[in-house]
Amino acid sequence: MTSSELLQMGDGSAVESPEQWQGQRRPELLRLLESEVFGVTPFGRPDALRFEVREEKSGARDGLATRLRVGVLFEGTENGRQMELLVYLPNDVSGPVPVFLGLNFDGNFTTTAEADLPVPTHYVNGLFTRLSDHRATEEMRGSRASMWPYDEILKRGYGVATACYGEVEPDVANQWWHGPRVLAPPTEADGWGAIGSWAWALSRALDYLQTHPRVDSQCVAVFGFSRLGKTAMWAGAQDERFAAVISQNSGKGGASLMKRPQGEPVSHLSGPLGHWFAPSFARYSNNEAELPVDGDSIAALVAPRPLLILSATEDTWSDPEGEFLSGRSATRVYGLLGHEGLDAEARPEPGTFINSRVGYFLRVGGHNVTGEDWAVTLDWADKFLKPT
Ligand code: GCU
Repeated sequence: MTSSELLQMGDGSAVESPEQWQGQRRPELLRLLESEVFGVTPFGRPDALRFEVREEKSGARDGLATRLRVGVLFEGTENGRQMELLVYLPNDVSGPVPVFLGLNFDGNFTTTAEADLPVPTHYVNGLFTRLSDHRATEEMRGSRASMWPYDEILKRGYGVATACYGEVEPDVANQWWHGPRVLAPPTEADGWGAIGSWAWALSRALDYLQTHPRVDSQCVAVFGFSRLGKTAMWAGAQDERFAAVISQNSGKGGASLMKRPQGEPVSHLSGPLGHWFAPSFARYSNNEAELPVDGDSIAALVAPRPLLILSATEDTWSDPEGEFLSGRSATRVYGLLGHEGLDAEARPEPGTFINSRVGYFLRVGGHNVTGEDWAVTLDWADKFLKPT
């Protein structure tokens, strides 16, 4: 969309005040993203939801952190649908801390080399380790640790929490009944897809974090890489309890602009990856121009909360320019709400960080998350996530 379309109601009338945005245009865009892209999330926190602290280790990571393993039991039972949340909270910090919350691809035990985390038995992605059967093995322990620099995050005074998306729902077509979608099956054209299900789980993780006295529940940022970046964007768009959103190469269906012809087309997202979305999204296959919403609509739904967009030069499939333009387009909504958005008119040189409320960083390199991404993320969070 163009930024002027963002500030125009479906009936053509202009959106001129924060009240009109919040009361009319925001709900209108949210409904369109539900009906045309991700599907409707039919319910929030289930009455039966229960948390089970399975382990609390006060001296984890050489004493740097308290580590918790928490069962988030969607149906309230130990054998029911669930996910295990791995939480690190920095020791030696007084008062509640801001927390980064994001899903992982391959199991909690791949985000750290610690030897005492269990090898999971649920579905894992495994692409990175060339796994053919989606079953985790001991060899995968710590294999994704470079994307999760826990010690650096903890030393800066932040907590961090993660769960495996594959435990919530396997990333496979027609397997939705394994996860929360079974509680409201997606039978209609606007039925929720897997991204909706994973995003829902992030909100349930936030439900848990809100109960912990050492977590500043007003300062929980949701983040994710690639398909899990799309998921983080959708979670943050829907659930305004998330204080900030961080997109790590989320690409099309996330921060990027689907209407631009560069990078991944909708035919790919709604075809081989169709289980991520509502069935109705297929209408826009080879027909992007007809989309009534785009990545900038998702970005605008995050407003006025801080949004960080991380791109990479070689990640052409995500269309990094589209990710930048999306942040720029949403900037008009931030402006209407009285905040600075993305403070750069043109895309910055690779390696130059725009540390504004809508932040933008174009790393030199490929589709990945590196220490460099986290270094800018922590600088940005110091400015926009820590309580003032
Ligand atoms: C594929 C897909 C992308 C997605 C990525 C990922 O490349 O086409 O949309 O972001 O997988 O999640 O790794």
